[in-house]
Amino acid sequence: MTAITANATFGVYVHWPFCLSKCPYCDFNSHVRHGGIDEARFLKAFEIEIAATAARVPGREVTTIFFGGGTPSLMQPATTAAILETIARHWPVAADVEVTLEANPTSVEAERFRGFRTAGVNRVSLGVQALDDGALRQLGRLHSAQEALDAVAIARAVFDRYSFDLIYARPEQTPQAWSEELTRAIGEAAEHLSLYQLTIEPETPFFALHASGKLPVPDGDAARALYDATIETCAAAGLPAYEISNHARPGAECRHNLVYWRGHEYAGVGPGAHGRLNIGGVRYATETEKRPESWLMRVEASGHGLTVNEPLMTGEQADEYLLMGLRLAEGIDPQRYEKLSGRPLDEKRISILKEEGAIESMADGRLRVTLSGFPVLDAVVADLAA
Ligand SMILES: C[S@@+](CC[C@H](N)C(=O)[O-])C[C@H]1O[C@@H](n2cnc3c(N)ncnc32)[C@H](O)[C@@H]1O
Ligand code: SF4
Repeated sequence: MTAITANATFGVYVHWPFCLSKCPYCDFNSHVRHGGIDEARFLKAFEIEIAATAARVPGREVTTIFFGGGTPSLMQPATTAAILETIARHWPVAADVEVTLEANPTSVEAERFRGFRTAGVNRVSLGVQALDDGALRQLGRLHSAQEALDAVAIARAVFDRYSFDLIYARPEQTPQAWSEELTRAIGEAAEHLSLYQLTIEPETPFFALHASGKLPVPDGDAARALYDATIETCAAAGLPAYEISNHARPGAECRHNLVYWRGHEYAGVGPGAHGRLNIGGVRYATETEKRPESWLMRVEASGHGLTVNEPLMTGEQADEYLLMGLRLAEGIDPQRYEKLSGRPLDEKRISILKEEGAIESMADGRLRVTLSGFPVLDAVVADLAA
C-alpha cells in the first residue's frame, strides 16, 4: 500500500443513467429509453450543473474524474469530450488526472474506445461479470464471454489502464469453478479487478426469483468459501485486495474510488449523483434528482439538480469515515476518527474485536479489518461506531 499517497484529492463523478437493457440483479440508477435520448440536451444540463458546482467549490485541483452509470460507454465520445472540457474550464485539472469510464463489453461500445481515448479518458472499467456464457445469460447480459474478452483486448490496446468487474457467488457456483474462472480472468487483467459478490437487491427481478426459491445463491459458509477463494487466488497472482471488493497490483489502485474511501472531497453531477463538498469548514452531503428527465428539467429550470444539500454533523462524518475507511486494506487513522467525532474509539470494543480476530493494529498505529473480518465488515463497523 505504500505506493498510495494519502494527500487530499478532489474527484468529479459524472453519472450517465442509461443502459441498453436493465440487468435483473441491478439496482443502480440506470434506465432504458427505447425511443432514444436527447444527448445534446443532457450535455447542456451537465455543463450547467458542473458550472454551478464549481461556483460552490472553486479552485480545487481535479485529480480524478469518473464516468459511472448506467452505461457511460453508450455516450457519444464527443459528449464525453465536451464534459471533460467543461470540467477543465471550471477547475484546474492535474497533469496526471485519472479519467475512468465504465463500459459494457459489447462490440458496438468497444468500437468507440479510441474515440473515448481521444476525448481524454485514460482508464476503462469493463462490466465483464462472468467468463461463462451460461452465467452471462442467467445474469441477463447482452454479450457473450468471447465478446467480453474481445472488448478487453481492445481496451488493452487502446488504454494504458483498464479494469474489469466480475460477479461471483452466482447460483450453484463452486469455489473450484470460481477459482478457475478467476485465474483465467487474471490472465486477462493487467492491473486491476473488481470482484463483487452477487447481492440480491430489493425490487429487482432477482429478488422476486430468490424469494420464490427459484434462484438459490450461495450463502453462509458457501459464500465464505467463495470469498476465501477470491482472496487467495488474487493474492497469489500479485493482485491483493486493497479494498473489500477491489484487487490491484500495488500502485494500480483506482484513485477515484480511493477519494470516497479515504473521505476526501468529491463533486457529483448528473442524475442521482452523490457528492461531499467542504465549504467554509462545513462538509456537505449532496445528492441530485434521480430520474433522468426530472433531473434535466430541474437543471434547466433552476441551474442545478440538487435534491439534498445537507451539512454533515461531526458524528455523521466520523461514522462515514469508519464505514468507508474500514473497507480499505490500509484501514483508518484512529486519530483522524477522534478529531472528527470528538471522542476516541472505544478501547474495550477494540480489544474484543481484536481478540475475535476481526481487526488489527498496524505498525504505524492505523487500525484495519483483517481478511477474516471482511465478510462481517458491517457488524464490525456497527460495533465500533456504537
Ligand atoms: C454501474 S455497473 C457497471 C457498468 C456497466 N453498466 C456494466 O454493467 O457493464 C457497476 C458494477 O456493479 C456490479 N453490480 C451491479 N449490481 C450488482 C449486484 N446486485 N451484485 C453484485 N454486483 C453488482 C456489476 O459488476 C457492475 O459491473
Ligand atoms: S449492471 Fe450495468 S448494464 Fe446492467 S443495468 Fe446495471 S448499470 Fe445497466
